[in-house]
Amino acid sequence: MRSHQVRSVVELGFGYGRDIAFFRRNGIETTGVELSAVGYNAAIRHFRGDRGTTLIESDALSYLKSSRSGVWDAVYSNLFLNMHFTTEEHLDIFAEIARVLRAGGLHLFSVRSNKDPWYGKGKHVAPDTFDHSPFGSTLVYFSSDSIKSLTPRSLTTVEQIETEEGANEFPIRVFYVLQVKKDVSTE
Ligand SMILES: C[S@@+](CC[C@H](N)C(=O)[O-])C[C@H]1O[C@@H](n2cnc3c(N)ncnc32)[C@H](O)[C@@H]1O
Repeated sequence: MRSHQVRSVVELGFGYGRDIAFFRRNGIETTGVELSAVGYNAAIRHFRGDRGTTLIESDALSYLKSSRSGVWDAVYSNLFLNMHFTTEEHLDIFAEIARVLRAGGLHLFSVRSNKDPWYGKGKHVAPDTFDHSPFGSTLVYFSSDSIKSLTPRSLTTVEQIETEEGANEFPIRVFYVLQVKKDVSTE
């Protein structure tokens, strides 16, 4: 983010805002969007008075659709795109992210991989999608191919790492992806 001169970021599905705190410590203006009232209210209390933080209680796609085009330096999400979205909704979210980013802006995200130990557990409700209740929510798992097929032409994947992490009793397998919006004016 530093090397790409990121000064403003939108975080989708910020939870209670731990990554917003990191961005703010690093001087990045942050707009966070979160659907859960519990997470949103916890963050509102924590970031009260911080003029560099804007918090929005909303569905992420609706927020993106309401945003102007080409304005953000970066769109970031951590394990948000695994939430229970259909392929059409994912395509819509990726397209909106590409639209709201400025040329050269970054899309940074992490998602659980289809090699994750949870993959295949629970009820199969859609392709690569499993309902883990009562142990967890419904999650969509990603492969390199699915990331590629959701990525619009205006975004280029410049880095993609697949790694294992998590505590001993809760290992997960995650893709970390960095995409850059093409500058069409230089093409
Ligand atoms: C796995 S949690 C990750 C939270 C946070 N990013 C973190 O790393 O701690 C996914 C978050 O996405 C939020 N979420 C789910 N659907 C959403 C939607 N449609 N719009 C915005 N946030 C949503 C959930 O409420 C939850 O806080």
